[in-house]
Amino acid sequence: MNNSAPIGVFDSGIGGLTVVREIMRQIPNERIVYFGDTARVPYGTKSKETVTRYSRQIVRFLKKQDVKAIVAACNTVSAYALDEIEKEADIPVIGVVKPGARVAADTTKNRKIGVIGTEATIGSRIYTRYIKEINPDAEVLGKACPLFVSLVEEGLLNDPVTDEIAMRYLSSLIDSGIDTLILGCTHYPLIRSTVGKVMGEGVTLVNPAYETARELRKLLEQEKMLNGQSHELGTNQYRFFVSDGAERFIKFANSIIKYGILSAKTINIEEF
Ligand code: DGL
Repeated sequence: MNNSAPIGVFDSGIGGLTVVREIMRQIPNERIVYFGDTARVPYGTKSKETVTRYSRQIVRFLKKQDVKAIVAACNTVSAYALDEIEKEADIPVIGVVKPGARVAADTTKNRKIGVIGTEATIGSRIYTRYIKEINPDAEVLGKACPLFVSLVEEGLLNDPVTDEIAMRYLSSLIDSGIDTLILGCTHYPLIRSTVGKVMGEGVTLVNPAYETARELRKLLEQEKMLNGQSHELGTNQYRFFVSDGAERFIKFANSIIKYGILSAKTINIEEF
């Protein structure tokens, strides 16, 4: 495999851009092909079968772009479909759940960890499973926060409506006395300040996007797959694909990522 081949990153929509942002910061030489399934978002309310089918189509698309590794930058996909993706991909694949679980298990002092995510991620109890493998005494409290995805997709990142909904969703977690909270959906780091404000200073927020980029760097180092060459602007280092609404995606992506994103191509993912 060619070390200068890109990394394939995908999500149900824009949330995976929080992982892209971390990869750009931590391993700036890497090229990236991003796919956001904007036509079929949200995944968090869909069945395991549907999320798996969508994910396999995306993997087939990314493999056509000759990626050297794939990051499933979506907690719902990581919870429901990672094994199937690994089978389909036949190249290294990482999800976002394991890296986040590992850091949370290491961070907590009182062994009380909260996880917020989509209904699918929380219902799967995947974070609980991974955390308990590392720290069997840990107590893991999950809370589905489905409206957060829509609030982020609507761009209401600093808004009284988001504050109000965060208060409602998070009050039971505040009362439970957790000292660590996993932002278990790739959209949530975008409302990190709201969540932090509501939870208070005594609660450490874990951002799996950051941890996933670290894990990816480690994996590429181990496999001797790091790209040694730096890129010049305009060399097509980052390419973005969506299944709908390219203009809207570009606008949003540019508000998250400092690198100027000029284009995103719309593809028909059902063809893959
Ligand atoms: N980005 C997805 C995740 O991390 C959530 C959005 C969705 O429901 O599709 O779970």
